[in-house]
Amino acid sequence: MANPLPNHPQLRGNYAPINFEATCQDLIVEGAIPKGLEGSLYRIGPNPKFVPDQGYHWFFGAGMVHAFHFAGSRVSYVNRWARTPKFEAEQAARGPLPMSFITDPDTGAVVSDRRNGLANTHIVWHGDQLLALEEGSHPFSMAPDTLESLGYGHYAQDLQGAMTAHPKIDPFTGELHGFGYMSGAIGSKTMTYHVVDQQGVVKRSDRFETPYSAMVHDFAVTRDYVLFPLFPLTFDLDRMATLGSPFAFDAEAGAYIGVLERDAPVSGIRWIEAPVCFVFHYLNAWNDGPLITFDAIDFPVAPNFPDVSGNLPGFSEAQGKLTRWHLNVATGQIDRELILDRAAEFPRIDDRFAMDRHRHAFMATASGRQKGDGGLFHEITHRDLDSGQQQSWDVGFGNGVSEPVFVPKPGQGQEGEGWLLATVFETERSTSSVVVLDAMALGEGPVATARLDHRVPFGFHGNWRAAT
Ligand SMILES: [Fe+2]
Repeated sequence: MANPLPNHPQLRGNYAPINFEATCQDLIVEGAIPKGLEGSLYRIGPNPKFVPDQGYHWFFGAGMVHAFHFAGSRVSYVNRWARTPKFEAEQAARGPLPMSFITDPDTGAVVSDRRNGLANTHIVWHGDQLLALEEGSHPFSMAPDTLESLGYGHYAQDLQGAMTAHPKIDPFTGELHGFGYMSGAIGSKTMTYHVVDQQGVVKRSDRFETPYSAMVHDFAVTRDYVLFPLFPLTFDLDRMATLGSPFAFDAEAGAYIGVLERDAPVSGIRWIEAPVCFVFHYLNAWNDGPLITFDAIDFPVAPNFPDVSGNLPGFSEAQGKLTRWHLNVATGQIDRELILDRAAEFPRIDDRFAMDRHRHAFMATASGRQKGDGGLFHEITHRDLDSGQQQSWDVGFGNGVSEPVFVPKPGQGQEGEGWLLATVFETERSTSSVVVLDAMALGEGPVATARLDHRVPFGFHGNWRAAT
């Protein structure tokens, strides 16, 4: 039998895992699924089967994928764990295993280059594979319809180290750009820049050194440049004894943005000093000659992590806000402007405009956020960055929305012509649903809501794969 989970804030409420895998046909739909919305929404997040008695962190729970398949105005649902070798080894051991434990499922040998074997953060369709991602691990393939675990992607052997959960897919070339950090060893200052072509063939996987070792969750790519922002959530294994975490926010270390021309060798990376703050996620980036613009969710410090003295951020420091950055590559000048003064996360665009100038930003927001509310986002907000206008759909304080995923309407529409799909957890029902919103008319509320009889635990990210 499995043991009860420890009493931990990231294992309570809708952060608690569910303990089953299900297949549900023909969900009850309120409203009408729009014509042309044909494909699958994938959501992924931590859903641990086993956790250690001490020291659990949300970021490190075993991943579960939820798929909502939209076909002919009907919606069906499947959820499955990402059965990585680490997951299977924990099943066999009937208990949690250390992060570094990873074995080859065929030989049982420890496979060090696969690192911790998690797949819980993001899920992308690329190179004819559905890839479940976690930044310390290799991409893990799952069957797009059944979510059967297929193993590591066919290009994993060619990647020099792990890959971020936030790769960028170039809408023109189909290339996937990614990176890894601590590529040399745990705590190393080595990063890797990966480029994989649209067939899934690794074109480059080049290592380079950074000013210090830090957690790097996301990055940004324009038509001409790759940016590797480095904020000082630095790593030092010796902190485990004093802080209980090897990662701590060290403002004294400064911040840098590594700038690389897209086709240049990594020896050409320039490190430009940047304002000290913290960013998990970038909305998008573009450049006009040497002038780069990118939008990010800026935090004053790293939320949920201590500083080097062991102090956790205060409430206001733990709120991220949509901010526009201007970086002049020629002069190194950086300017920032606050775009939206509201707690926000999980920013997304119409991905057809990735790496180019974007007009529309979509994100989860929390205008009613209160201390102790568990960090819930209760709104989905659209910001028109050209006009400054915005619209939100508010599901009600106390309920939680996921990252909104943009799905374009069929045909060559303008930027923003499409739908936003998100999962919604309603506290009173203790169930989740997937909602379909008109991306340009959020205030009108969902055009369709497909209901589950169970919860989709709060997770991280999702993506859409159009039916073929
Ligand atoms: Fe993320």
